[in-house]
Amino acid sequence: MTSPPPGPRAIKPLRPFVAAACGAGYLVAGEWLIRRLFSTYGPIVSIPLPGTPVVLIKDPDLVKQVFTEKPDILLGGKGVRPSALIYGTGSMFVQEEPEHLRRRKLLTPPLHGKALENYRPIIEDSTREALAGWPKNEPFTMMRAARDLALDVIVRVMFGVEDRTERTRLGRPFEELLDLGSSEQLILRVAMASVGGLKRWPKLDRANQGIDDLLTPMIAARRQDADLHERTDIMSLLLTARSEDGEYLTDKEIRDDLVTLVLAGHETTATTLAWMVDLVLHHPRVLAEVQAEADAVESTAYTQAVINETLRIRPPSPFTGRYTAGDYRLGGYTVPARTRIVPHIGEVNLNPETYDRPHEFRPERFLDSNPPTYAWIPFGGGIKRCLGASFSLLELAVALQTLLRCGSFEAVHDDQDKQVRRGIVLLPHRGVLVRYHS
Ligand code: HEM
Repeated sequence: MTSPPPGPRAIKPLRPFVAAACGAGYLVAGEWLIRRLFSTYGPIVSIPLPGTPVVLIKDPDLVKQVFTEKPDILLGGKGVRPSALIYGTGSMFVQEEPEHLRRRKLLTPPLHGKALENYRPIIEDSTREALAGWPKNEPFTMMRAARDLALDVIVRVMFGVEDRTERTRLGRPFEELLDLGSSEQLILRVAMASVGGLKRWPKLDRANQGIDDLLTPMIAARRQDADLHERTDIMSLLLTARSEDGEYLTDKEIRDDLVTLVLAGHETTATTLAWMVDLVLHHPRVLAEVQAEADAVESTAYTQAVINETLRIRPPSPFTGRYTAGDYRLGGYTVPARTRIVPHIGEVNLNPETYDRPHEFRPERFLDSNPPTYAWIPFGGGIKRCLGASFSLLELAVALQTLLRCGSFEAVHDDQDKQVRRGIVLLPHRGVLVRYHS
């Protein structure tokens, strides 16, 4: 069979209108629309979006094929190209091979293995400091609090700065860019850019200028730092890192990669922490187990299972993408060249063939087994799998255990928050209102 995957179609003159309707439909109806498309057309669906058409997939076998495909057949950089609007065109995230792998190799050591142990005390300290400032016995939104906490952690880890006022100063310009990343304007702006309609976005230019004003002198000063080779922050590690051919990263590459790490690692981790608190507070048995483990200090096995289960049913990123260099066979269909294939993370993680009662929050399902590689994809997969996965799992475990050791939470609402799409992240609709007692 050589036909394209099924999906909404129209005769040629009407195609631009169908494309616009699909784009507008996602803006208004978000994830609901995607679920409808899957239930109407099956696990592989074509959507004629303006600019680049999209093929959505939700079947783990299809996901496996896509994530393990050769990178010159399914392009990773072009697959996530819309994010260049916020991350910058120099970001490693939007590069193709071999450049992507060269940059990825340089970023890997500071985010894996032994290096992670340097960050544990920082995460614990930031969490204690943050909760000392939270209102006691009064409602506040966990989403806001988690955002501030995650930004503080990432700024400390990236730049190795301890002074509180300096940390706040460093975080501010990133906050502006992060706000644009979860703004409702983003999808519209991406759609306009894809058809050549976005000439300027002044707010974005201002936010980027703010980051340049901050990072350019900082990189120059750090190069001269006598202790540069002893420092363990990520900026210093990048300044001293050399690729296999002996090349150092340029200032521009370091700037773009630092921005990528802060942006990729902040909202995602903060949202997961807020969801985790929401889910745990509405499941008293889980709360009791995770509290007991935090008090006992010896293990994180149950806490890790809670994190994995939270990322399964409340993944912060709804999807990722790969781009077809030529016509591509998938699931018995032919996906045309220059199409974006989009594994839909939320739907893959709810696959009923993999998970018994997939919509229920049951951390126990991950107590004795690791999550399945292609049916649990909150961090994507293949050679573009999230570089900060180990770091964020550590951050979430240390933050949750520290919070539970220092006090107790209470949910303000009897029911759980619902997922809403803001820009390209899925957030809790009320921001998870809680009271904290210490
Ligand atoms: C719960 C937290 C997080 C989630 C759910 C998440 C999710 C993702 C997803 C879905 C991707 C795309 C993967 C693909 O296309 O296959 C990604 C890529 C990436 N993430 Fe994360 N992320 C998280 C935390 C972090 C953190 C803390 C950092 C850094 C400190 C980070 C850095 C990156 C980078 C650099 C990439 C690009 C990898 C590449 O292109 O090779 N992420 N992440």
